[in-house]
Parts: sequence; C-alpha cells; structure tokens
Amino acid sequence: TGYITYDPGFVNTGATSSAITYIDGEQGILRYRGYPIEQLAQNSTFIEVSYLLIYGELPTKQQLDDFTSKINRHTLLHEDLKRFFDGFPRDAHPMPVLSSAVSALSTFYQDSLDPADTDNVELSTIRLLAKVPTIAAYAYKKSIGQPFLYPDNSLGLVENFLRLTFGLPAEPYEIDPTMAKALDLLFILHADHEQNCSTSTVRLVGSSEANLFASISAGIMALFGPLHGGANSAVLEMLEGIKADGGDVDTFVNRVKNKEKGVRLMGFGHRVYKNYDPRAKIIKQTADEILSKIAGGDELLDIAKRLEERALSDDYFVERKLYPNVDFYTGLIYRAMGFPTQFFTVLFALGRLPGWIAHWREMMTDPATKIGRPRQIYTGEKQRDYKPLSER
Ligand code: CMC
Repeated sequence: TGYITYDPGFVNTGATSSAITYIDGEQGILRYRGYPIEQLAQNSTFIEVSYLLIYGELPTKQQLDDFTSKINRHTLLHEDLKRFFDGFPRDAHPMPVLSSAVSALSTFYQDSLDPADTDNVELSTIRLLAKVPTIAAYAYKKSIGQPFLYPDNSLGLVENFLRLTFGLPAEPYEIDPTMAKALDLLFILHADHEQNCSTSTVRLVGSSEANLFASISAGIMALFGPLHGGANSAVLEMLEGIKADGGDVDTFVNRVKNKEKGVRLMGFGHRVYKNYDPRAKIIKQTADEILSKIAGGDELLDIAKRLEERALSDDYFVERKLYPNVDFYTGLIYRAMGFPTQFFTVLFALGRLPGWIAHWREMMTDPATKIGRPRQIYTGEKQRDYKPLSER
C-alpha cells in the first residue's frame, strides 16, 4: 500500500526519462535530439530525421545511403499479407486496417521478434519503415477498389508511397515534386512528440516485452482517436460543417464557448503547448504555398484563417491558452493533395512511425525500464456478501 499520487491523464507524471525529443510548451519550442524543428524542416528529409530519432545522431552520407537502401529492399509485402486486405469491408476505415496489418506482421516474422535480440530489433525497424507506407497505400487502394501496385524501389520513400497510393498499373505516374516535398515536410513535423498518447501506448505495450510490431499496432489505434491524430480529419469535417452553414465563424465559435456537447474547436489546444505550436507555424506557411497553386484557392482555407483569427482574439481561448496545433492546417494540405478525409490520420501515423520506434528502442535498452503498471484510487463498494439469485 502506501501513498498513491492521483493524476488522471498523467498531466504531471514523468513516466520515463528520454533523450529523444525536447518540448518547452510555454515557449513553443520543439527539438529532435537537440536540433530545432525549424532547422530540420528547412534542411533535412524525413528519412534523415527518422535516422536521427532512432539512432540519436544525424547520419553521415554513407550511413544515410545504407539506411535508405536497406529500407528500399524491404518495401514489398508478403503476397499472403496482400490477401489479408480482402477480409475487410470495402468502406473500412484505413486506420484499423493499418493497425491490423501491422499487427499481422508479427505472424509473418515469427522468427525475428525477440525484443532482446538487437539484430532482430534492427530488422523489425527496417521492415516497419519500409512496409508501413506500402500497407497504408494498399488500405487506400482497397477502399476505392483499385489494384495494388508493387513498390518501385528506385524511388524515395515518400515518392514510392505517392505512386503506390495514386498510381495505376496501366499508366506512368508522374510524381509532383512540390507535393512530394510538402508531404516529406509534414512527415518531419509529425515524426516525434515525446510522451503523447500513442507513444505512451507504444511504451506501455512494449514494457511487457511485447514485440515491436505489436506495440506499434497498439500505438496506431491510440492515434485513431479524434482528440489525438484523428483531429486532422475532425478539423476538415468542422470546416466543411461551417461552410455548409454559410461560412459564419462567429456562430461556430459561440457554440464552442457555450460548451455545446461535442463541439470543440478542433485543431486548437494542446496538453503541453500553451503557446503557438511551432509545427503549426511551419504548416500554415506550407498551406498557403500549396493552396495558392490550386486554381481559385480553397474556400476552406479562408474559413480556417478567419476561425483562427477570431479564436486568437477571443477571451475564452486567450484565458485558456488555446492556440492552433499541428492538426489545424494539415487537413487542408492533405485534401489539396487528393487524399480523402478518412486517410489523414494514416498520414499522421506514417510520420509518427520513426518516433514510436525510437521510443520503443530507447525503452528496451534503458536499465530503469519496468513493466508499466499504474495504480488506482478505488471508489467501488466495500466488502459485501454474495446473495443467491432468488434473493436479488
Ligand atoms: N476547443 C474548446 N475548448 C477547449 C479546447 C478546444 N479545442 N481545448 C481545450 N479546451 C478547453 C477545455 O474545455 C477546458 O476548459 P475549462 O477549463 O473551462 O474546463 C480547458 O480548455 C482545458 O482543456 P483540457 O481538455 O483540460 O485540456 P487537455 O490538455 O486535457 O486537452 C486537447 C488537450 C488537445 C485534448 C484539447 O485541447 C482538445 O480536445 N483539442 C481539440 C482536439 C485536437 O485538436 N487535438 C489535437 C492535439 S495536437 C496533435 C495530437 O496530439 O494529435
């Protein structure tokens, strides 16, 4: 027994030490392995950032080439795993499909799952980074009834993913470099965010020494929720709702302030940031660049900007330090790229994957790691005696 600290939602409980990501929520600072997110966004690539998060240092040219070619060699899915997609209904949401297929990887690689075997962990890391984009693209193809393409390993990770998602077997697929670069940037911005809900899930599941695939599959499902990764889809639904109601942001903001059931300003607020989310700043600029290229722009961008301006000057949001978070503008960019709303959270998962892997690996090699096992404050009945059915 003894004294138990009550901290619902772990608002103030440090469950681990970690050397991966630093956040200062008051100042709006985010760094991966010490490097400011702004510098990585400007100069790096998603594959390089993945290496940085997982191995702790920026790679040399040789290390980056080796890492890239290893990933390229593992992009294919087992043909039996491809058939797995047939078992889902046509309109299946791609997040549970993604999680199920990642979970199923544990059955295809049963010989190499031991979390204590570093070679196996390395192989699982590469397999995940290589195969999750393929799985994600197939989840999309399945939902629109198109054939699955085989990966083209002469392409980079993001380019390959775009081709697998939007390409057709009968036609050459022309990769739009602006789109590939923007997606790469968004993946960098999503790549890690210390002990968020999905990463904590990956750690908690992994703390029982469950394998990497099983742990990541659980993390994907934690990300699915609308308060976490699902927020990027929810933002777009919210903007569409406002547009359908005539585009009046005041009415919507008042509904939020009146705390109407289920009405929150999606894409606003954050457990840690009490300032503008540094990722949202970079994304807003990208949204402007990408959407200005589309003929006539996007009316939803205009609504989003008016909504942001309105909220930032309203006492309700100011007092509660609610600012736009990473999800506020991403949906608009994904939509402009041609992704359906349901798929947005899958894109978040693709970006977050290296962070999950880095945390799982850090935990497995940390001598302080113990199985996660929170305590509780019991509020149920005191002891009472069993009554036979006839007396109840
Ligand atoms: N709209 C309206 N009110 C809000 C919002 C919002 N988006 N976010 C927080 N509040 C209010 C909340 O009602 C509470 O008010 P009061 O003190 O009067 O009860 C106060 O602000 C504190 O909120 P909280 O729910 O205690 O804060 P939290 O740290 O538990 O929640 C959050 C953080 C991100 C879940 C929340 O801000 C939220 O629901 N935001 C909308 C969903 C969203 O955009 N999620 C994406 C987060 S960033 C990326 C990711 O993690 O995936």
